[in-house]
Amino acid sequence: MKLLREKIQDEGIVLSDGVLKVDSFLNHQIDPELMKEIGLEFARLFKEEGITKIVTIESSGISPAVMAGLELGVKVIFARKRKSLTLTDNLLVSSVYSFTKQEENTIAVSSQFLNKSDRVLIIDDFLANGEAAKGLIDIVKKSGASIQGIGIVIEKSFQKGASELKNSGYRVESLARIQSLNEGKVCFVEELEE
Ligand code: G4P
Ligand code: NA
Ligand code: NA
Repeated sequence: MKLLREKIQDEGIVLSDGVLKVDSFLNHQIDPELMKEIGLEFARLFKEEGITKIVTIESSGISPAVMAGLELGVKVIFARKRKSLTLTDNLLVSSVYSFTKQEENTIAVSSQFLNKSDRVLIIDDFLANGEAAKGLIDIVKKSGASIQGIGIVIEKSFQKGASELKNSGYRVESLARIQSLNEGKVCFVEELEE
């Protein structure tokens, strides 16, 4: 997605050890116009899949997921990372290991919003090692629903998440794919189709 790659080049900041900071439009401040375009692109990519629900994870997955849900006309569920006062019954849970924080976290979704007839699109902001995506896959599987695809805003193709998910048979569509972040520069995987 050209608009997104330009935004990353213009506003992304390469931090040490392969981390890209995109606080100006995705992870802290959110650019609604860009999110709208991201939602349109996910909807275009997955419109033939008969999606009935989108599942994401708080917090930064929510804005792209909501815009995709608006375009596809489906509800959006976000997995919670923290215990909720009101979300206590019938939880589907999974454990997610964060490499960046070196800690194991429990994520949870209420079973009332997912059932076995659902056809789910999983959306997240970043795909690095794929731990968050695997946790979401685990939760969707526990509900009995099927997973029709995984939509990612920014994929760090040099980490193992994307290839592992594809090797497991999932359709992964990433709107920007980063080959490397070496020497402070963002280098994208060649986008032949655009
Ligand atoms: P993984 O799920 O793919 O294995 O990722 P990892 O554990 O390494 O990442 C943990 C958190 O860091 C996730 O957000 C993930 O989206 C984010 N992340 C990973 N690599 C990058 C990067 O290069 N840049 C940025 N900006 N984020 C990255 P989170 O902690 O769950 O935060 P949030 O969703 O509440 O924002
Ligand atoms: Na994040
Ligand atoms: Na995320």
